[in-house]
Amino acid sequence: MTERINPASVPSRTLYTGDTMPAIGMGTFGSDRYTPEQISEAVAGAIEAGYRLFDCAACYGNEAQIGEVFDAAFRKGTVKREELFITTKVWNDMHGRGNVLLSCARSLRDLRLDYADLFFVHWPFPNYHAPGCDGDSRNPDSRPFRTEEFMETWRQCERLVDMGLARTIGMSNMTIPKLEAVLPLCRIKPAAIEMELHPCFQQPELFKYCVERGIQPIGFCPIGSPSRPERDRTPEDIADTQVPELVEIARAHQVHPAVICLKWAVQRGQIPIPFSVRKEQYLSNLRSVTEDPLSTQEMEIIKGLDRNNRLIKGQVFLWPGARGWEDLWDLDGTITK
Ligand SMILES: NC(=O)c1ccc[n+]([C@@H]2O[C@H](COP(=O)([O-])OP(=O)(O)OC[C@H]3O[C@@H](n4cnc5c(N)ncnc54)[C@H](OP(=O)(O)O)[C@@H]3O)[C@@H](O)[C@H]2O)c1
Repeated sequence: MTERINPASVPSRTLYTGDTMPAIGMGTFGSDRYTPEQISEAVAGAIEAGYRLFDCAACYGNEAQIGEVFDAAFRKGTVKREELFITTKVWNDMHGRGNVLLSCARSLRDLRLDYADLFFVHWPFPNYHAPGCDGDSRNPDSRPFRTEEFMETWRQCERLVDMGLARTIGMSNMTIPKLEAVLPLCRIKPAAIEMELHPCFQQPELFKYCVERGIQPIGFCPIGSPSRPERDRTPEDIADTQVPELVEIARAHQVHPAVICLKWAVQRGQIPIPFSVRKEQYLSNLRSVTEDPLSTQEMEIIKGLDRNNRLIKGQVFLWPGARGWEDLWDLDGTITK
């Protein structure tokens, strides 16, 4: 089986800004499990394999190692800067005036880039938790989302576009009530929203809301994040790749159920960013979008698998007095005050 997929055979998406990005990319969060070296080695292999989109973030703790790989690929001529689409994100401890610019500058320095293709606000509040913390960890300074506080951070992101440091900007871990509050205030609309999306957690309302407004959904944990950190596991969680209907479809296509999750994601219209350090996995993940699409009937079956099963609940970001992780996601339809 070939070890390289022609990047031209990977579909692309056009953002409202006119920029294009690949319809599938690679995630770079090691889930406290994989080292920066293992991940950067996978990024190097993925560039060779034909990946052109990489989802990075300051808090993943590996941008310097990944930057070395980008630099080497540019020098070697494997790929040109303009052929890659690279995202990065400001972490919760760097919100607000001054800090966003600093965070972007550090990420660009580490990634060895002059600009990011897409710069995200990683979470919509400045609630910090230490890397590798456990699920019971709480920061006493945490507080609920506040529109004005978020907008101060967003205004700094807009300045990154003005300065040419980010081609486009986006938000992550948003809800419809939060978007309703902030979108009318944006001078520069988000080009993309990164959100958890997999067959058992399809977020149909948020997905539709974004698409109707010309905002590209990007799906994290597209395979159901089987290696996610312990703090993000609860007994009720469903493993997407073990759902019988999905296993059955995978058997019919003679691929791993993970590959079916990705075919579904791309055919539905979100951009999945699966993570893997294993070559056979990341090759089959990229190949998933270039051959053997799912039938309309299979797409319908997977549509029916939604169980509203959020995996990344974010409880470590809760503030004193919060009722539970549901408060982070405005499940009563209003913004928590
Ligand atoms: N914006 C945010 O707040 C946010 C939050 C979470 C994630 N993300 C982004 O989304 C990316 C992806 O999320 P994720 O890593 O949590 O979950 P994921 O991509 O759903 O799952 C990754 C895991 O799936 C397994 N896998 C991958 N390809 C496979 C294949 N072909 N066959 C079988 N198993 C396969 C691997 O497990 P093994 O390692 O055990 O083999 C891998 O570690 C992250 O890396 C990050 O960039 C963003």
